[in-house]
Amino acid sequence: MEKPNDLILVIFGASGDLTSRKLIPALYSLSNQNLMPEKFALLGVGRSEISSTEFREKMANAIRTFSDEKDPDFSHITGFTEYFEYQRIDYISPPDYKELGRVIQNLCQKHGIGGNIIFYMATPPSLYETISTNLAEAGLGIQSDGFKHFIIEKPFGYDLESARRLNKTLHGLVQEDQIFRIDHYLGKETVQNLLVTRFANGIFEPLWNRNYVHRIEITSAESIGVEDRGGYYDGSGALRDMVQNHLLQMVGLTAMEPPSSLEADAIRNEVLKVFQSLQPIKEEDVEKQVIRGQYTPSKIRGECVTGYRYEKDVDVHSRTETYVAMKFFIDNWRWGGVPFYIRTGKRLPTRVTEVVIHFKQTPHHLFKRVVGKLTGNQLIIRIQPDEGILLKFDMKEPGAGFNVKNVNMDFHYKDLADVRVPSAYERLLYDVMLGDSTLFSRDDEVETAWKFIEPIQRAWKNNPAIKVYGYPAGTWGPEPSNDLIEGEGLTWRYPCKNMADEELYCEL
Ligand code: BG6
Repeated sequence: MEKPNDLILVIFGASGDLTSRKLIPALYSLSNQNLMPEKFALLGVGRSEISSTEFREKMANAIRTFSDEKDPDFSHITGFTEYFEYQRIDYISPPDYKELGRVIQNLCQKHGIGGNIIFYMATPPSLYETISTNLAEAGLGIQSDGFKHFIIEKPFGYDLESARRLNKTLHGLVQEDQIFRIDHYLGKETVQNLLVTRFANGIFEPLWNRNYVHRIEITSAESIGVEDRGGYYDGSGALRDMVQNHLLQMVGLTAMEPPSSLEADAIRNEVLKVFQSLQPIKEEDVEKQVIRGQYTPSKIRGECVTGYRYEKDVDVHSRTETYVAMKFFIDNWRWGGVPFYIRTGKRLPTRVTEVVIHFKQTPHHLFKRVVGKLTGNQLIIRIQPDEGILLKFDMKEPGAGFNVKNVNMDFHYKDLADVRVPSAYERLLYDVMLGDSTLFSRDDEVETAWKFIEPIQRAWKNNPAIKVYGYPAGTWGPEPSNDLIEGEGLTWRYPCKNMADEELYCEL
């Protein structure tokens, strides 16, 4: 694989969680695979008053603690962190950015690196505009001596208006192709595999439309609560935190038309068209099409679990949703009339993300008299855990008569013993170094996704009578979300940790 050109990576928010848990271990894995530039230096920037030596030690510990490799080789850690430096900054002080410019220049000279620089904003989103503006005003966005890439993390704004403002500010400073907006779901191997499953196989694509698909279901469930992120989460909620970005991106890749090539814009144009075709949910329909919930105290496997309102930094009267389930349509030729159901929540029974394609029943139920109800065919694309693909179909039970049984045909990534699935951040960092923006959200995608979300936000704001349903922590969310699914006897799939299993109650 291609090695990126020499560069300096500047991480703002260097003493934060994202840097230690995700970014540094991902860079180390890339280095172990010989996928880092020949000449590379990392400058950590933050408010903390720490020395470069302390920073190197902290990052070395982060690699040991958070590496997700099966048999990590830690023998190169010292050699790897040797190129790390730390610089303290006051984010709102322009002179500090001038000083930063000097430090970067010295680093370039010291390591013989040209002018390629990546600025990663691993900070709270409220700082993105401040940091970018100060960087640009200090002349650090100019690409005359090499590329200058700006990475920002979701959330990109907190509504349509703020997203537009953020894009406008960034466009006033740098070009769109210098901006890399990270939605880490796009970095997941299995999310990218949605494209391969659809467009590399002749057998699925002909069925992938309203003639054969009955409904599509996308679930992203988490078993954890808000942990120590109550302060952030209470102002965000599941709609902003998961639906506007991760879930809609999965909808985009599931529903898009075949792109003309694998070029970044060819793929992103098709995702954008899906977002543009999302049938707007009218404010007055929000109550019946979008169900929100919040987890309440409960016992999970004998242990008491706190309710959302009693989590650290959460308002005791909070109406922030920790669960969202919704139904919507995509108004285009491929999907007209096919309902899409998506749901996400915290403190659900298990951690699972998957896309389920429910195919239509056969036109004539030849075996109905024998089995009563046929389950139908489902294709399940498991994003995590137990990554893989499962096809469910009906088969004759051996013996007299025509007893029909729904059976599984499955592929699990873990069966490819010699293949390591890289982490999302590994893939995304590598792509930014190469300047490949395929797996990053473009400005118009982000704004169009917000446009779809906006009436829901407005309805919830203007109409407090729309219920926030409680659901006991550890269950599959509020009851009314079951009523979203149209059709007699139809329900959500209740997935288990093992892809092939489904039950309302299963292993954790
Ligand atoms: C983040 C959200 O973007 O995604 C978190 O802010 C959520 O609230 C996380 O827990 C889920 O990511 P993953 O990769 O664990 O599914």
